[in-house]
Amino acid sequence: MQGKALPGFRDFYPDALALRNHIFATWRSVARRYGFEEYDGPPLEPLDLYTQKSGEEIVQQLYAFRDKGDRDVALRPEMTPSLARMVGARAQALKKPIRWFSIPQLFRYERQQRGRLREHFQLNMDLIGEGGPLADAELIAAAVDILRAFGFGPEHVQARISDRRVLKALLLGRGLTEAQLPIAFGAIDRTEREQPAAVESRLVQAGVATAQAKAVLETASLRGLDAVVAALAKVQGGADAAEPLREVCGALDAMGLGAFAQVDLTIVRGLAYYTGTVFELFDTGKTLRAICGGGRYDDLLEQIAGVDLPCAGFGMGDVVLGELLKERAVAVPAPAALDAFLVAVSGEDVLPVIRLAHRFRDRGLAVEYALKPQAVRKQIELAVARGAPRAVIVGPDERKAGIAVVRDLRAGTETPVPLAELEEGGWTK
Ligand code: HAM
Repeated sequence: MQGKALPGFRDFYPDALALRNHIFATWRSVARRYGFEEYDGPPLEPLDLYTQKSGEEIVQQLYAFRDKGDRDVALRPEMTPSLARMVGARAQALKKPIRWFSIPQLFRYERQQRGRLREHFQLNMDLIGEGGPLADAELIAAAVDILRAFGFGPEHVQARISDRRVLKALLLGRGLTEAQLPIAFGAIDRTEREQPAAVESRLVQAGVATAQAKAVLETASLRGLDAVVAALAKVQGGADAAEPLREVCGALDAMGLGAFAQVDLTIVRGLAYYTGTVFELFDTGKTLRAICGGGRYDDLLEQIAGVDLPCAGFGMGDVVLGELLKERAVAVPAPAALDAFLVAVSGEDVLPVIRLAHRFRDRGLAVEYALKPQAVRKQIELAVARGAPRAVIVGPDERKAGIAVVRDLRAGTETPVPLAELEEGGWTK
């Protein structure tokens, strides 16, 4: 025995894979409803695609190594830099706005815990070439609609929305400098995980004056569009900064999704490249980390591909979502079961059974038969264990009479059906 899979990596047994497939199918169907096309990129990328652009946290979690050609490479920890490169390379030719989605497997060397693994699958939906707030609202709506498609309501999940332009205006207005903003954003990102006093002392240690450190915490505690707009009214450039957030909220209301959304300035996002609207979806019980996160990143394409195109998007992982679905015991469609199990009564019936089975398979029916001669009782046992609704029993007497017996395994009834009829139309006739 070779022991277990690596920590944080999953074996997908059929029932686990059925859940994963159900998640993927729902993701694809909602993405399609929003007119998104599917793409993919390579799982292994040049290391520097991430070291410059993704931000400190993700870089520390990279699975990185030197390959046999002496290249520094990394397993992709996120999809956004690959997407930026791919779109950048064909930016002229692609019709804007580009609506693309992907379901990559991603790798991060994280401390393993509930909802956090070292590999996960992540739906990415990104809208490129449109800088307005309706694009942001469209993405938040798509994320919410995925949760709705799984049966969640506003009592179960909430989108918490913020805007880095708003945070910037408020923080500059309270005396922070432009250079201190990354430190302040990092501190705000930690307010969920750390005590306010710890966050404040971290800021002070980083050179932020105590009054400004307090201002950072006060800003992060603002909740609701009205409170944010009121705070913005007091700072220079505040009215302009408020506009996109106001429009995002207005659009979500018009879509009938207002109950799913709340303005919450603790959301800033850990990744370095966000420039505007940022959002995360959480379960209202807040037992788990974010189900999904994303936002606007208008400078990344310029940095990676030298192309000036505004972008926004989000990533939604399968792990947190899977936990929530299990918690709520959401029914997962069973993987396709057999249409029939074919039973050979004697050794001589094996070849006629195989012949019939392949006729059925050619017609798209799912059938199985025993792979070696076995007692009829054993074959029926396996048929029942497989969940087959019926057994098609072929024996010497039946063959002589040109028939097979179709046994309904649930009702226990038996019907003789001419073999010719079975071959042409099956038992459904
Ligand atoms: P992220 O916040 O790092 O964003 O990840 C998005 C989501 O992926 C998280 O909310 C979580 O559901 C899931 N996730 C992340 N790390 C793990 C993990 N170790 N185990 C399980 N699930 C995880 C991004 O990756 C951005 N690139 C998203 C984006 C796309 N922004 C714009 N476009």
